[in-house]
Amino acid sequence: MKKLKLLVINGPNLNMLGVREPDIYGSKTYADLCEYVRGAGRELGAECELFQSNHEGELVTKIQEALGVFDGIVINPAAYTHTSVAILDALKAVALPAVEVHLSKVSDREAFRQVSYAGLACLRTVAGLGFEGYREAVRILAEALR
Ligand code: DQA
Repeated sequence: MKKLKLLVINGPNLNMLGVREPDIYGSKTYADLCEYVRGAGRELGAECELFQSNHEGELVTKIQEALGVFDGIVINPAAYTHTSVAILDALKAVALPAVEVHLSKVSDREAFRQVSYAGLACLRTVAGLGFEGYREAVRILAEALR
């Protein structure tokens, strides 16, 4: 079976995992997340490249550069989920299969978190499963791509 190449994108403040609001996001760090995702990818037959940025434009550029390089995208746009038409448009532009992930259960949180622009360009949204949500996203993409 061909090994899939997936780009796993994390947006602003996710580099602060372990420090930021541990009651919501847990005590594990971004480095822990990277290790977890790479391991889950290996088990599911996917090579995962991770990218994190606090800057909207860098996230847009990375999505654009994925075209022709990656088979699919896992994206946690973090706060840009709820504001960024630019990230939505970038996902639509490359038209790669994408799955949206959130560590927390956004549906149980503030009203301003109930809108997801990026989600409009994604096959599915996985939320509230913590790190496990990334594994689920990779599994969904692997199933869709095979
Ligand atoms: C988040 C949820 C967003 O609302 C928030 O702005 C984040 C993280 C999550 O993974 O639960 O930064 O995307």
